[in-house]
Amino acid sequence: MSKSKEKLVEVRNLKKHFKVGRKQILKAVDGLTFDIYKGETFGLVGESGSGKSTAGRTIMRLYDATEGQVMFKGKSVHGKKTKDELKELNQNMQMIFQDPYASLNPRMTVMDIIAEGLDIHGLVKTKEERQRKVNELLKIVGLNEEHANRYPHEFSGGQRQRIGIARALAVEPEFIVADEPISALDVSIQAQVVNLLKRLQEERGLTYLFIAHDLSMVRHISDRVGVMYLGKMMEIAPSDKLYTSPLHPYTRALLSAVPIPDPEVERKRERIQIKGELPSPINPPSGCVFRTRCPFAKDVCAKEVPAFAEYRDGQWAACHMHDERFKEHFKSDLEKIQ
Ligand SMILES: Nc1ncnc2c1ncn2[C@@H]1O[C@H](COP(=O)(O)OP(=O)(O)OP(=O)(O)O)[C@@H](O)[C@H]1O
Ligand SMILES: [Mg+2]
Repeated sequence: MSKSKEKLVEVRNLKKHFKVGRKQILKAVDGLTFDIYKGETFGLVGESGSGKSTAGRTIMRLYDATEGQVMFKGKSVHGKKTKDELKELNQNMQMIFQDPYASLNPRMTVMDIIAEGLDIHGLVKTKEERQRKVNELLKIVGLNEEHANRYPHEFSGGQRQRIGIARALAVEPEFIVADEPISALDVSIQAQVVNLLKRLQEERGLTYLFIAHDLSMVRHISDRVGVMYLGKMMEIAPSDKLYTSPLHPYTRALLSAVPIPDPEVERKRERIQIKGELPSPINPPSGCVFRTRCPFAKDVCAKEVPAFAEYRDGQWAACHMHDERFKEHFKSDLEKIQ
């Protein structure tokens, strides 16, 4: 469950559209509204191309927003900022990337990589303090002092990700966007990095936006999970609810692809197959963007954009199936899946 009800990040109707070609618009993120509470891990999932990284980057202000707002501790992230405001934002929000090699400068020593933020934000005064701080950070992420003068290529993937984590932690942020931080790692190393992130969260009260492809990966780390499809949020729910009683057909379909270790349960469970390919975000379907692949789609799904509404306690979905106004159309489907 969420650890507090204090909102750290508020995302309101956030859009990020890219111009592609001469006059086409690609709607990578198209109207996200959700909150991230202080101290929680908000998992963001969805298949490749659904807009997760773009959402993370826009929230972090690495991209300007096309429309909408992001508030961090009640203050707007986008728009004109003074130098001091920018510095404060950059210090408070840090990012950990998927590819722990490409995201570390190969020409810099581990010491300089980790200390870069300390230097920029003037957090250390002397060379000794800088060194002490870096050594401390190396220790926190499970590396040691001797690693400080080496270069990224001398490390394994898991170690490089630890360096990336130390770099993010150096400026003592409150909020970290982790964009598929373990996807590139060996399965045996993934749990170690997840455990490190969890421990750091407990010790430092960190708040995470944890982006992943795969529902099974975010289940254990997330307090709540948001499911994205074609730039939009399909469902948000507390982790346990999302896995045991999903509202959206897309969530059900994603869950169908997650293997259940118990063969008995695995054999009996109902599966939903998603048909066809992900449509282009340049020309998304009318009404509900998922309708072209949804096994339950009706006429209304092509005509009207579903509202994103709270249908159960803390569980939000964008699907006409649960809307009182259209429930009649979906009566037999609802009986089948409940
Ligand atoms: N800089 C850009 N310019 C134009 N289009 C972009 C840009 N960045 C992303 N896109 C497009 O926006 C859509 C969403 O991309 P994004 O990388 O956010 O998806 P994702 O959910 O993170 O996918 P993955 O799981 O593969 O990382 C895709 O169609 C992608 O091609
Ligand atoms: Mg991505």
